[in-house]
Amino acid sequence: MKTRISFILNNDLVDIEINPAVVLLDFIRNKRLKGAKEGCKEGDCGACTVLTGELKNGTVSYRSVNSCLLPVGNISGKHIVTIEGLNQDGLLLNPIQKAFVDEGATQCGFCTPGFIISLTGYFLNLVNGNSTGVIESLDGNICRCTGHNSIIRAAKKVSDKFTPGNKIITQCDLAEMKIIPEYFLNIHDRLKKLKLTCKENYSDIQSYSYFVGGGTDLFVQRPDEMMNSEIKLLHNDKDLFGIDIKEGYCIVGSNATVTDLRESEIMNKFFPEFDGFMNLFGSTPIRNNATVGGNLNNASPIGDMTIFFLSLNSVVTLTDGISERDVFLKDFYLSYKKTDRSKNEYMKCLKFKLPEGNYFYNFEKVSKRTYLDIASVNSSVFLKTENNFITEIYLSAGGVSAIPLFLSKTCEFLTGTELSPDNIKEAVSVSQKEISPISDARGSENYKRLLFSRLIYAHFLVLFPEIFKTEDTYERL
Ligand SMILES: Cc1cc2nc3c(=O)[nH]c(=O)nc-3n(C[C@H](O)[C@H](O)[C@H](O)COP(=O)(O)OP(=O)(O)OC[C@H]3O[C@@H](n4cnc5c(N)ncnc54)[C@H](O)[C@@H]3O)c2cc1C
Ligand code: FES
Ligand code: FES
Repeated sequence: MKTRISFILNNDLVDIEINPAVVLLDFIRNKRLKGAKEGCKEGDCGACTVLTGELKNGTVSYRSVNSCLLPVGNISGKHIVTIEGLNQDGLLLNPIQKAFVDEGATQCGFCTPGFIISLTGYFLNLVNGNSTGVIESLDGNICRCTGHNSIIRAAKKVSDKFTPGNKIITQCDLAEMKIIPEYFLNIHDRLKKLKLTCKENYSDIQSYSYFVGGGTDLFVQRPDEMMNSEIKLLHNDKDLFGIDIKEGYCIVGSNATVTDLRESEIMNKFFPEFDGFMNLFGSTPIRNNATVGGNLNNASPIGDMTIFFLSLNSVVTLTDGISERDVFLKDFYLSYKKTDRSKNEYMKCLKFKLPEGNYFYNFEKVSKRTYLDIASVNSSVFLKTENNFITEIYLSAGGVSAIPLFLSKTCEFLTGTELSPDNIKEAVSVSQKEISPISDARGSENYKRLLFSRLIYAHFLVLFPEIFKTEDTYERL
């Protein structure tokens, strides 16, 4: 299976027929651009990091991504920047590269291109007002020999020098500072000239073996199978993007990424802590490609977005391209990795009722490492109260069952009860009958049972510190 794609690779236009499942890392290295390295090929090390730039709101929005997991079919119409594309004329080091040399932040150099690209992504995101922090921008990069201190010193040095005060930075400023080469300034107009198909055709839907979102699960789990299968790249369907409000519901397109959600005005307005919750999801480059549709349909029992949206009593819309049907997310999971979605359907969007009144929500995740790790157990809660009584509650948990679990019996028990340590203790014991964790590499059955009971207490300690005290939970262990 081949498809035609056009994109700009550094300063060059590429227009080719290619198997869309070839990952970008293999493509660029075959083009003799050897700066991006293959380390883990699983999205963990960041040695393969590149930037993708796409037209958004009249500008080019750049994101750092793991090229080892990115199918080239997803890059049509974009600007791809590898370390070679950051070279300045006359072999001069750019300021980021120079800071690395000055601070001794590179030894064997295997990881260095990835770090430099991520830092360039940090500066380019300052232009859009989206950057989190300079050190956070490196959360997807690992160095095996230098030690991270010198890298952090280099990153701070260059950010202190080039981001003084609250000055708004433009791409022209970055070009003047030599952080990006001059040719970046023409990319906007050049991307506009690329001809793109935005309307997808689903008439041959039954012929596809896989739907692909961002590819961050599929290209870890079955990269070879992807190369030899008929795949449908949903990323190219512009109708599946966007986070909007319609008739009292928030509609999240299945192509929305974790980064899109974290930057969404709607999510930040109704769930101000959401950004912090999802900071525990993967790394910056993973979050830039990981979609809601992928998280929900991967059907992992510990998907973080799945667990969060389960507690909002969300509904998903499935379609075969002609007709649509809605299913409550809590009814979507049938057994381990089996969902109520037929082979001919893909997920169009997820929707949930916009919360109003006296509502509270919380998300907890425990993993072996705090960052860049999947959960051992995670849990989310959404509830409403009136005069210290729970009037409505939705509780979900991951890692304690074969499917992402909605705890209907525990919710039933808690509805109408007073917020009190005794009632939560009782709810914990009801919940223990609803879960069925297994012992695996992430912990024994007993450990997960104990962990989940602690996470229920954690929800109430975080949400109602005036009612619940840590001491209340000690004796209950
Ligand atoms: C290094 C690393 C760290 C990670 N960390 C986390 C983490 O902290 N928390 C977490 O929850 N996950 C994590 N993940 C897993 C992964 O990133 C997420 O599950 C992500 O949301 C998957 O989205 P995707 O678009 O990349 O999925 P894809 O790989 O494209 O697809 C995943 C599955 O969903 C199906 N699919 C995709 N979109 C649709 C659709 N619209 N309709 C129907 N089916 C569809 C595909 O066919 C496939 O079966 C991590 C992955 C990596 C590699
Ligand atoms: S090679 Fe390690 S993240 Fe891509
Ligand atoms: S310098 Fe060798 S891995 Fe970082």
